[in-house]
Amino acid sequence: DQPPSACPHGGPAAPRPSAPDLFTWEFASNPYPAYSWLREHAPVHRTELPSGVEAWLVTRYADARQALADQRLSKNPAHHDEPAHAKGKTGIPGERKAELMTHLLNIDPPDHTRLRRLVSKAFTPRRVAEFAPRVQELTDQLIDRFGEKGEADLIHEFAFPLPIYAICDLLGVPREDQDDFRDWAGMMIRHGGGPRGGVARSVKKMRNYLADLIHRKRADPGDDLISGLIRASDHGEHLTENEAAAMAFILLFAGFETTVNLIGNGTYALLTHPEQRAELQRSLGAGETALLETGVEELLRFDGPVELATWRFATEPLRIGGQDIAAGDPVLVVLAAADRDPARFPDPDLLDLSRVDNQHLGYGHGIHYCLGAPLARLEGQTALATLLRRLPDLQLAVEPEELRWRGGLIMRGLRTLPVTFTPPG
Ligand code: HEM
Repeated sequence: DQPPSACPHGGPAAPRPSAPDLFTWEFASNPYPAYSWLREHAPVHRTELPSGVEAWLVTRYADARQALADQRLSKNPAHHDEPAHAKGKTGIPGERKAELMTHLLNIDPPDHTRLRRLVSKAFTPRRVAEFAPRVQELTDQLIDRFGEKGEADLIHEFAFPLPIYAICDLLGVPREDQDDFRDWAGMMIRHGGGPRGGVARSVKKMRNYLADLIHRKRADPGDDLISGLIRASDHGEHLTENEAAAMAFILLFAGFETTVNLIGNGTYALLTHPEQRAELQRSLGAGETALLETGVEELLRFDGPVELATWRFATEPLRIGGQDIAAGDPVLVVLAAADRDPARFPDPDLLDLSRVDNQHLGYGHGIHYCLGAPLARLEGQTALATLLRRLPDLQLAVEPEELRWRGGLIMRGLRTLPVTFTPPG
């Protein structure tokens, strides 16, 4: 028997090493080595997820981009060829029919086209730009609340509240109700993949609240997104009350944990790359914004909030990256792997805030491309710039190995981010 040869030049071919364990604790803290292996050896890889469902993972940039734009991959879970043993417990949102789940990320054209056009009328880049002073004010208020201790958990005290208050303001949820939203969202994020009871109760409370709010806004509209949605639907386009509630829900939901993770993962990356961070601090001090702008895009590429794009299901037999996919199979595009593909990004594991050729997939691609990208950029840039400006000596309070990452399937983010700093004056 010949021993397997590790030599890449000549000799008998080495047996292909087996695929790395996915979805373990080590994987959650650093999935990038496993993704590198998959890109190289099994770029379209069938695996069993923790829920027992089997799905294809797509890890190369070119394949990922193509899959995200492929209309034969449906977002509607009705296309899932669900095996009997997984019936009802796949954990796939929308598989169990629920009112709030008929939202943009679970539907295909023509419904998707109609609803997206409608919300785009109300959620314009101009509205987001006008919102900038409010995001700055919220950011400053949260930093003011750190007080004199000189220490904080940036996830709970900063990254978590900022986006929920921001999106509530934008939607038109009155300030006095926003802490309820904070609690419901907190329940969903903490127990997203865990016990269903509390999450289901929170979703129900949110649904009832949103239905009531839509009634109130119809009677007494304001200059907010929900009123804008109602106005748009009253001007000929059709939006049912349930669709309006599902839309408000997806805006809250899609805009919340993602932004928490952009601020959390982004701050963590800056704190663990001191030279890059110093360069950003210097440029902000000189009143420049270019490095902040490219920097936030690079943070999204380097360690983005959405690790895997949301569920897609093959509506007919198709091929991705030379691999046959059967009709009904779930396909998960691994954005985090695609964005580290050396075939697309030189030195992909290097954090380079000044990277300009950076068409990352952190916001997705194709017709489901992130609707909230302008708001996410505004929040990310404001949060990071203000932290570095007001807390110039910000440091991690623990060793990076002590930090815990959430083990959810779609999102990638830290549970806590303890930091120290000289209290702001
Ligand atoms: C869709 C990422 C913030 C609203 C998406 C998708 C990604 C993404 C990857 C596509 C998912 C797929 O195709 O499977 C992010 C990231 C964010 C962020 C990384 C923060 C850094 C926001 C915000 C909002 C928002 C702040 C709104 C307030 C949406 C909506 C969709 C979406 C509504 C669905 C669009 C559609 O299906 O047509 N986002 N998002 N996102 N995002 Fe974001």
